[in-house]
Amino acid sequence: PRVKYVEANGREYLVEADTGISAMEAAVKNGVPGIDGDCGGAAACATCHVYVDPDWIGKTGPAAEGLEKSMLEFAEDVNENSRLACQITLSDTLDGLVLKLPEKQH
Ligand code: FES
Repeated sequence: PRVKYVEANGREYLVEADTGISAMEAAVKNGVPGIDGDCGGAAACATCHVYVDPDWIGKTGPAAEGLEKSMLEFAEDVNENSRLACQITLSDTLDGLVLKLPEKQH
């Protein structure tokens, strides 16, 4: 699936990702800046905070109760479209997904 990452300054990165990897892994693999993924995808660092485009939040779903939501408390400027990118698994139903990057990771 294709994923578009949009930096806070409007710069866009279009990535062709493998099915089954996370939106964090796809960003790191393709050199998209602004997603660190320090914990390797374990929902334990909150350096992969992204805002799901409002048109897509219905498909990705909101942040999961429990681990993901509690980790997001460590991220800055969280809103109702905030997710941990490592917790979004890419699939064909998410082809065209748009993720906005925060100004900075915490
Ligand atoms: Fe650490 Fe997502 S990579 S929380």
